Amino acid sequence: MKKLLLFSLLLSVIISCNENKKTSNTSTEPEQSIDKKWWKEAIVYQIYPRSFQDTDGDGVGDLQGIINRLDYVKDLGVTAVWLNPIYSSPNDDNGYDVSDYRNIMSDFGTMEDFDTMLSEMHARDIKLVMDIVVNHSSDEHPWFKESRSSRDNPYRDYYHWWPAEKGEPPYRYSLFDAEGNAWKYDEKTDAYYLHYFSQKQPDLNWENPKVRQEVYDIMTYWAEKGVDGFRLDAFQFAAKDTTFPEFPKGFEKNFIQYYAMQDGLHDYLKEMNEQVFSKYDVMSVAEGAGRTLEEAHELVDADRNEINMAYAFDGVDIPKAEGYKLSTFKETFSKWDSAFADKGWISIFLSNHDQARMVSRYANDSLPYRAPSAKMLNTFILSMRGTPYCYFGDELGMTNNPKLQNIEDYQDIAAINGYKKAKSQGEDMETFIQNLRFGSRDHGRTPMQWDASEHAGFTSGNPWLPINPNYVDVNTEAELADKNSVLNHFKKMTALRRGSDVLIYGDYALLLPEHPHVHAYTRSLGDEQFLVILNFSKEKVSVILEELGNFSELKINNYSNLNKKANELQLEPYQAVILAKS
Ligand code: GLC
Repeated sequence: MKKLLLFSLLLSVIISCNENKKTSNTSTEPEQSIDKKWWKEAIVYQIYPRSFQDTDGDGVGDLQGIINRLDYVKDLGVTAVWLNPIYSSPNDDNGYDVSDYRNIMSDFGTMEDFDTMLSEMHARDIKLVMDIVVNHSSDEHPWFKESRSSRDNPYRDYYHWWPAEKGEPPYRYSLFDAEGNAWKYDEKTDAYYLHYFSQKQPDLNWENPKVRQEVYDIMTYWAEKGVDGFRLDAFQFAAKDTTFPEFPKGFEKNFIQYYAMQDGLHDYLKEMNEQVFSKYDVMSVAEGAGRTLEEAHELVDADRNEINMAYAFDGVDIPKAEGYKLSTFKETFSKWDSAFADKGWISIFLSNHDQARMVSRYANDSLPYRAPSAKMLNTFILSMRGTPYCYFGDELGMTNNPKLQNIEDYQDIAAINGYKKAKSQGEDMETFIQNLRFGSRDHGRTPMQWDASEHAGFTSGNPWLPINPNYVDVNTEAELADKNSVLNHFKKMTALRRGSDVLIYGDYALLLPEHPHVHAYTRSLGDEQFLVILNFSKEKVSVILEELGNFSELKINNYSNLNKKANELQLEPYQAVILAKS
């Protein structure tokens, strides 16, 4: 589990876009005081293509499936889609091991499908953010095949090699390796190559200007096709200390310090900005918010022309199988908000393809709490300052899948190799499995639940991961028909956010910092003010707020009743309320 924890600690995403050429597609009147940008106003919906909609019966989602569901996506009220990698890949890490950056994975379809998908998205005013995986490639990429073929091959320096005659390379930790070592011996040239992730994901050498140019050319290829943004996968690892010093004992605990954000990273991002972002109306996303708030800020400071939006992972590191404290949650999100209060921008999310389902981790997936608590979490995501990222299925309140019980049920390389490693190190395997049941990435990857028919309408074949048995009740068809569903609450929230500058740009202020169950805050812009009150517990709780009297207009409530008297509010379990100042 240590691997999983480290892994989630590392996952930070930064969204960037070209400051110079952006056009705001949502602003109506010029506002002096706020720096309006389309990507700040975006509501991003993340689609994991393997799991969204299959149309050819192979049990794996495809681009045609996404095309078929675009009316649904539009109807959600989201404005952009972030698509996990769809390039050719041997799928060691589900597409995060790319063997051809200018081609579509055959499981997903063809380039023609891609072009249709993009134009169909644009026809609906939905923007597309592509995942760019360039800290590493697949070992099946032609660059690596060349690189490993001889020591004097022109592609040798595209990757990091350590000749065996220098002895064992200094130990480096690998996130996905069953033995844990990031150096893999390769007989052909009697040398070791570096892979921070799996053995099939060799790290690219960013110090080589040719590698960087290849990446900018790839990004340009997609930008020319008209994509609207890039998410730079695992990018904080791109800049390494290639003298490969020995690190002090225990350095793994300080993984980011030794592995990430090394010298050169800012230069690479500036160069990327110059070569790609500044030439197109694109936003870009890269993992890595750095070691400190200051570092995160430097990455997204518009004056530096690097990238724009921090996507910090502190928030998703909070829940643990044994529970978590709401105070940590409040502190974390308040801290990140304050870091970007004056300059810069952040993203808000509680789940993605590297996390288990949010309702199972932060709230309560058992009856009768699943629906109210999923609505409450969506209210949180869509009412904070920062660009919200909504992971597919969370709009329905999809939960962790009870079918994922034993290690044989999991498919994620992080789970499988993590298990092997834990076993070889004599860890407590019962705890390891408990942690997987709570937090495995596979929980977030089980197929979308469209209806109550066989395989939840996801596929006519055999789904690549088991469908959650709760699909009979938790599915889009049922939820569209129920006006009180999680889905309809989600749509109310996206509509409210799209129409409220105060929810997008307004200042955030935490109230009731000591309350053990309630997260309450205001969002304020000019004369406008919203009050958000979220009960994170299954208890009925009461809050006393002096401000309450000023807020009489009810904007959002995930219950039909509101028990409000003078300055006191009685909250139902997981009740979520947004009130506006009258
Ligand atoms: C990022 C991705 C994750 C992937 C890893 C290696 O963290 O989000 O899914 O496994 O990079 O590419």
